[in-house]
Amino acid sequence: MSRLTEPLDTPSLGALLAELGAEARAHRFEVAPNPCVGAAVLAGSEVIGRGYHRFWGGPHAEVEALASADASGVPRERWDTLVVTLEPCSSQGKTPPCTEAIVARGIRRVVVGSLDPDLRHRGRGLEELREAGLEVQLLENAAPLRTISPHFLRWLELERVRRPRPWVIAKWAQTLTGQLTPPESIGGGRWISGEEARAEVALLRSRVDVILTGVGTVLADDPRLSVRPPELTSKPPARVVLDTALRTPPQARLLHPRADEAAGPVTLLSVVGADASGARAAALAQAGARVHGIRGDDVHHLNLRAVLRWMWEQGWRRVLLEAGPRLCSSLLDAGFVDQLRVYTASIPGGRGESLGSWLGASSLEERLDRTVGEDQVLEAFPAPL
Ligand SMILES: NC(=O)c1ccc[n+]([C@@H]2O[C@H](COP(=O)([O-])OP(=O)(O)OC[C@H]3O[C@@H](n4cnc5c(N)ncnc54)[C@H](OP(=O)(O)O)[C@@H]3O)[C@@H](O)[C@H]2O)c1
Repeated sequence: MSRLTEPLDTPSLGALLAELGAEARAHRFEVAPNPCVGAAVLAGSEVIGRGYHRFWGGPHAEVEALASADASGVPRERWDTLVVTLEPCSSQGKTPPCTEAIVARGIRRVVVGSLDPDLRHRGRGLEELREAGLEVQLLENAAPLRTISPHFLRWLELERVRRPRPWVIAKWAQTLTGQLTPPESIGGGRWISGEEARAEVALLRSRVDVILTGVGTVLADDPRLSVRPPELTSKPPARVVLDTALRTPPQARLLHPRADEAAGPVTLLSVVGADASGARAAALAQAGARVHGIRGDDVHHLNLRAVLRWMWEQGWRRVLLEAGPRLCSSLLDAGFVDQLRVYTASIPGGRGESLGSWLGASSLEERLDRTVGEDQVLEAFPAPL
């Protein structure tokens, strides 16, 4: 447990906020588009619990810090202050409002590093805490969002609020030359990444609203795009295939989930007209798919802006793109990819178009390079076009 040098003086609180912010940033790729947030509970000047928002849909930092203070064994009557890098939420989202949890635990003072930048919520959390009789201190600039969560500020930009579209995470596996399909002789011509990488992807799938792919991938790989083991999620992500002319076969594995996987509903997005009638649409509906019509674009594929708007209207906010090079490059070139997770295996060569030149030419922000099993992993937020 760390101890503040001066009891609750402003520089010590500022230093604690900066430390919490830096630690919260470690989870940026797991929480985006949500903000990175860190919190601590103090008994006098002693930090007795710390917590972070660790993954999208997971508990908020305040709730984690309160649980960590519980685990410390320090009696509740000694807890007095909660320090948090961002104004606590006051509305019900995927989790209950944090203001309620703070008040319910008898916290007497809340020190906050940044106001909520969302104008619909800004100041409301602090107001609620004050109304409940808590002392509230705002130490702006101690944990600025432009340093801790630049991605969150982009998510709330006026243009994005005005024309909303979900947050898209493009994940792909590639060979050393950036190709998404390995040579025939490796991984049955299908698998590029190792077991540990595949386990990470299962976890990522369990933390998105929807998985998006193209019909090219369905025809080439017949993927399941499900969560395995199924216990990883209570609500499996929906699955969406861009399939202009409804080429998905009714016997595709996507449409026939097994007992050992959690698989969400499947929607095939076809060009308006192809969806409405015909034996193909009827057979796919019979196999359990929803077929929905979307406006086409100049090259007869589907209009990506319209696809993303339709996804937003479904209430989906975090999308995992698991497609081949055609759909990936369409979305990357249009500036619709917000986050990247690229696994590179030490496999030479490969087949099909390479995304290596796109990666090389792009400016990537907050880049993180790491290793999982035998694969190299690159995570980043592509700079807006
Ligand atoms: N390594 C990996 O991570 C990974 C992941 C997935 C796939 N793959 C590999 O990728 C290969 C398949 O690649 P692919 O490029 O053909 O498949 P894809 O990108 O998954 O699908 C492309 C198809 O999507 C449809 N589409 C509809 N609207 C589109 C739009 N606006 N922009 C682009 N596409 C649109 C088009 O077909 P319609 O016009 O018929 O609708 C297009 O041909 C396979 O070999 C597979 O193994 C690798």
